[in-house]
Amino acid sequence: MRTRNFAHRGFKGEFPENTMLAFEEAYKAGADGIELDVRLTRDKEVVIFHDENVDRLTEGKGTVDSYTLKELQAFKIKDPKRPDLMEQTIPTLADYLNWVKDTPLLTNIELKTKDEKDRELEEKVAELIRRHGMQSKLIVSSFYQDRLERIISQLPEVQTALLVPHFNESVITDSKNLPVDFIHLKAVSVTPEVVEEAHRHGKAISTWTVNDYEDMKKLNELVLFAIITDFPDRLKALQKEEE
Ligand code: G3P
Ligand code: CA
Repeated sequence: MRTRNFAHRGFKGEFPENTMLAFEEAYKAGADGIELDVRLTRDKEVVIFHDENVDRLTEGKGTVDSYTLKELQAFKIKDPKRPDLMEQTIPTLADYLNWVKDTPLLTNIELKTKDEKDRELEEKVAELIRRHGMQSKLIVSSFYQDRLERIISQLPEVQTALLVPHFNESVITDSKNLPVDFIHLKAVSVTPEVVEEAHRHGKAISTWTVNDYEDMKKLNELVLFAIITDFPDRLKALQKEEE
């Protein structure tokens, strides 16, 4: 099985990140899966949005969780590289699951925010995954072990991944103790030795965020579960060349 092609925040390289347009375009570009980020609104709806604050991506100011869903969806997503595409709004996880369930795509939901006040995030995400019957087509990841523990206890049938910027021995121990199925490692930390070590302990590796052609080529030669990229079209082309 070749390494899966996961689109980071959708087709982020060419379209406004974490929008339905970026997800649809990633699918058209040949992605096998979509990586996206979730957090809660003030009225406890699960929205797809990377940053804690709305400032970088909208005309608004302040934290996502200081707005209701209705207030957030009044903002248009701004993307300096695509001033022609200013009509996208912040999607809910429910919007996304409704769309993706009729495609063959896998999904990697990343649980954002270490904030204690967002403790209901896992419960809400689990409920949405269950309601859409998406348990077998998903991986839930997080940098935060308490969030992974909660999602594993609420949805034990779903695969999970520990996100880590740098590899060390405690990564293997933590991944076994939680336990998660995957380790999602920053590309700079991925070597053949690390992949082998993870496999020895029954853990598959995926890596992020790989956009450079030479890096893609090198990583594509290893036995990885997925490469997460802003440019699913580039990875698709490279994998086609190497078929
Ligand atoms: O899931 C991998 C990657 O998305 C983690 O970093 O900041 O892009 O969410 P970030
Ligand atoms: Ca992410």
